Amino acid sequence: MEDLKSIIRNIPDFPKKGILFKDITTLLADAKSFQRMVDLLSHRYIGEKIDKVVGVEARGFIIGAALAYKLGAGIVLVRKPGKLPSETFKKTYDLEYGTDTLEIHTDAIKKGERILIADDLLATGGTMGAVVDMVKELGGEIVDCCFMAELEFLEGKKKLPEGKCFSLLKF
Ligand code: PRP
Repeated sequence: MEDLKSIIRNIPDFPKKGILFKDITTLLADAKSFQRMVDLLSHRYIGEKIDKVVGVEARGFIIGAALAYKLGAGIVLVRKPGKLPSETFKKTYDLEYGTDTLEIHTDAIKKGERILIADDLLATGGTMGAVVDMVKELGGEIVDCCFMAELEFLEGKKKLPEGKCFSLLKF
């Protein structure tokens, strides 16, 4: 896994001073690394019944769509406010300073459907925690929350349901 980790580029002081940003675009742009990452992540769920993958805007769409294709599942979009055209369910969650809101179409998940949620990165867990609540609210059954990478020191896992979190690359 070290080869995949090392291709992720570190950008100091982005988006603000003191933050070392993990830039995954370098991994995505490398054909072999992208394919290996998708294969390794999807392999974990092959053979499980998964009706839909939920991808989180924006980088989560890339991972989510690739997984959905590999697993033969539908892809559902969780978007930033004002982007989804039909009736939505909204969830506002806390950030370090302030709040953020995400939306999902209310008819995107049917009661009892088995859902895999995908994102590129687990940091504080605020985003995924909110998405978990949205999926549950719509009656979806969460199979797992999966991430390409996790910043373990931020302990985001604690905000997710016990045993329902997998990340391929740990920093
Ligand atoms: C990033 C990342 C996750 C989230 C993780 O998204 O893609 O969705 O932050 O952070 P958390 O665990 O602390 O909530 P961002 O909001 O930067 O959106 P983007 O994918 O559109 O760049």
